[in-house]
Amino acid sequence: MKTLTPLTVLLYFSFFGADTFAQVDYEKDIQPIFDASCVSCHGSTSGVNLANYDAVMNSVGDQYGTEIVVPGNPNQSPLVDKIEPSPEIGSRMPQGGPFLSNDEIDLIRNWIAEGANEVAVSNEMISEVPEGFEMIDNYPNPFNPQTIISFTSPVTSAYNLNVYNATGVLIREFSGVTNNPKTQVQVNMNDLPSGIYIYRVKITSGNRSFFLESQKMTLTK
Ligand code: HEC
Repeated sequence: MKTLTPLTVLLYFSFFGADTFAQVDYEKDIQPIFDASCVSCHGSTSGVNLANYDAVMNSVGDQYGTEIVVPGNPNQSPLVDKIEPSPEIGSRMPQGGPFLSNDEIDLIRNWIAEGANEVAVSNEMISEVPEGFEMIDNYPNPFNPQTIISFTSPVTSAYNLNVYNATGVLIREFSGVTNNPKTQVQVNMNDLPSGIYIYRVKITSGNRSFFLESQKMTLTK
């Protein structure tokens, strides 16, 4: 039987999930900001044109003399300088206001920091589990009504832990971000009948996702 190390791990629930790692999506998140606040003045073919992705990426500011988006570098991008207070050159955009909200400015900053991609780079699903990631048998097992499900993750990772009943119906969902070598999630099944349950952990680390081996556990009331 495995011995348990002290419960050191924070529990997170679905409000702090794996989408912490999701990238900003240009069409969904960025173009609508330009459409609402910029294209009325920057929709033509000359100068700064913010009507679509290609136009944005090819726009060269007359005054700055450079392309307005520098992928990976929001601080060097005239586009960011112009929407924040006190730009280096000229007036803050949108000219005459109302200015963008801090959330909108952050989205634009993040989109550029992530590489200013047209399509959000999605996580690649891989079938081989990288070294150091491993399920640990839940403890206790059989259990009533609580058990602890654990896994190891050598680097900061987002996880989703799903518990299914024997017919495959999803009955519990946990998710979070962990930088703990051993993550422990406490699961309480006091509202459920005795029986066999199956659980599976999905990990997202860097831009890779993979499943750890699924396991069975028995609730005995
Ligand atoms: C009401 C018209 C108007 C709106 C709306 C507007 N702009 Fe501008 N924009 C201008 C004018 C005029 C200039 C040139 C004068 C200046 O830079 O202050 C300019 C200049 C710029 C430049 C610098 C170009 C250069 O010459 O280097 C950028 C970048 C820019 N705007 C981005 C934006 C963004 C992003 C938005 C929306 C959030 C926006 N603008 C909304 C009128 C507008």
